Amino acid sequence: MTDTVEDVVRVIARSATEIRRGLVGRRGKVDEENPSGETQAEADIWADELLADRLSTTDGVVQYASEERTDDLNCGDEGLAVAVDPLDGSSNLRSNNTMGTVFGIYDEPIPAPGTALVAAGYVLYGPITTMVYARDGQVTTYELSGGERTVVDEDVIVPDDPVVYGFGGRVPNWTDDFHQYANEIEDELKLRYGGSMIGDVNQVLSYGGIFAYPALEDSPNGKLRLQFEGNPIAYVMESAGGRSSDGTQSILEIEPTDLHGRVPLHVGNADLIDRLEAALE
Ligand code: AHG
Ligand code: MN
Ligand code: MN
Ligand code: MN
Repeated sequence: MTDTVEDVVRVIARSATEIRRGLVGRRGKVDEENPSGETQAEADIWADELLADRLSTTDGVVQYASEERTDDLNCGDEGLAVAVDPLDGSSNLRSNNTMGTVFGIYDEPIPAPGTALVAAGYVLYGPITTMVYARDGQVTTYELSGGERTVVDEDVIVPDDPVVYGFGGRVPNWTDDFHQYANEIEDELKLRYGGSMIGDVNQVLSYGGIFAYPALEDSPNGKLRLQFEGNPIAYVMESAGGRSSDGTQSILEIEPTDLHGRVPLHVGNADLIDRLEAALE
């Protein structure tokens, strides 16, 4: 019996080594926009095409969807759907800071609620290339080298005592309620914000705390995309004993309307998320 989930994760781990190597020389912007209206970097398009080729030809994968392409690829009848953010934090190409690749494996056609995820995770292109992968309530961290995965932690749990926070968007653009919550958190935790969701989420998973890209006055659904960023990260964080919220409920419960829909994203220690929801009531 093939394990399609395992096959998909193996393909992504092997592709990550090539994606990382291929960033060199592909840092510039191209004259193209993605479905979210963002100008694309050459590496955005390149990573997407590499993953599309590999994943759409993986047995058991019937749909490939990506933040970087308007339409999904249908590649079969019975099987799993894979959603990817091929290069998260690609604005960090200019400053050579952390980036990632995010993936969600759904057992329903995408767009789908996060409750349809059977596995999700991310690759972090840091000093070391690592993969964090959640499945069946377990979160595992691997180090990636030469396409091989080495387990370094097979029971990742968000640390109880929160240490760091990172909030996206410009302060004047935050809602008053979020601003008030941020003022409290700033007095309690240390600021860690690196401009890539994966880098910032991995800080929270490592030290405890909260990452948020909240609703903004001029963008009530925030910036991050539900299918490609919100659901996978919420799945990982909840699997690690943390919580996720769009401000009122777990992100995984949201019924999507649009493949490229955005969601206000808040993830981290459960009590910090509980306090956030109370502040936004
Ligand atoms: P992507 O590069 O996939 O478009 O993601 C960028 C996102 C996310 O990685 C990060 O949390 C956020 O954009 C940063 O936004 P700001 O540049 O507004 O801080
Ligand atoms: Mn982008
Ligand atoms: Mn992203
Ligand atoms: Mn991206």
